[in-house]
Amino acid sequence: MSRLPEKDTAESDNLIKTYLTCNSPTVDKLAEQYGYADRRNFTDAMRRRYGARRERNPIRQEAPELKNSFIKGTGKALALDVGKECKEILIINDLHIPYHDPITVSLVIKVIKDLQPDYICLNGDIIDFYNISRFSTDPSRRLSLQDDLDLTRCILREIKEASNAKIFMCAGNHEDRLRAYLWNKAPELSELRALDIRRQLGLDIFGIDYAPYDSIVKVNDIFKIEHGDSVSKHSGWTAKAMYEKRGGCGIVGHSHRFGSHLKTIDDDTQGWYENACLCDLNPEYVKNPNWQQGFAVVTFINKRFFVQQVPIIKHKFVFRGKLYE
Ligand SMILES: [Fe+2]
Ligand SMILES: [Fe+2]
Repeated sequence: MSRLPEKDTAESDNLIKTYLTCNSPTVDKLAEQYGYADRRNFTDAMRRRYGARRERNPIRQEAPELKNSFIKGTGKALALDVGKECKEILIINDLHIPYHDPITVSLVIKVIKDLQPDYICLNGDIIDFYNISRFSTDPSRRLSLQDDLDLTRCILREIKEASNAKIFMCAGNHEDRLRAYLWNKAPELSELRALDIRRQLGLDIFGIDYAPYDSIVKVNDIFKIEHGDSVSKHSGWTAKAMYEKRGGCGIVGHSHRFGSHLKTIDDDTQGWYENACLCDLNPEYVKNPNWQQGFAVVTFINKRFFVQQVPIIKHKFVFRGKLYE
């Protein structure tokens, strides 16, 4: 008799979602939780009972050249022109795969399916790259780098297939770990296109445009998007720091907190927003972090924009009148 929950129940749905998008140690934990002797027995049972298969190495086709298609410019100042009509950009960041929260991520993918945004911005720290961090010291956290890349590609593919949105990634300090590692440890290999982050994450295959770490994407010449590199202690303080640093309007990730800092000057309201995270809020390596989960949707109508921040509390949120849980 199966130890797994009945098919087509809320418990089995959540289990399948977690199973398909979690990292290998989590699969081991699930196997133990459901009373299986090892990972293989558990994965066999998941396949037999639900037809659920964890996909690895999903991309095998030849990659095209590493070129952006709709983000324009080079260097640090990049531009995105979304036109004069009403357009929506859904912004998510700080998944830190494989330390993401699989349930939260699957709920956000549901929103993408429902909303069908015009653009999706992956605003950095999508992958954690723990193995190649200069700070990594805990041997128990040394997972497989290839596993992490494969899992990230699987999640990127889910995001890609959820809508027809144009997608771009603004790299964070964690994506930049690959460049930093190569420059420090193997500078001779650092020019290899095969080792470029865009190719490693399959961005070129998925048609995801890319803004390097430290660059800023300016939308319709009025709203800046960047991952950011500063964190202040309290919600809203990072947004205020960004307003003081850059002026004008924009949004950052990196702080793992929600917040905003707005100012009305001469009949014009300007300000910056910080955009929470989609990672595990109770990771083993930080005790009780003051973080929040959530995402933002920014609607542009020509030179005006409207930011909607959506906090996700304990895997629940309401967005445009619908409860997601
Ligand atoms: Fe982060
Ligand atoms: Fe970051």
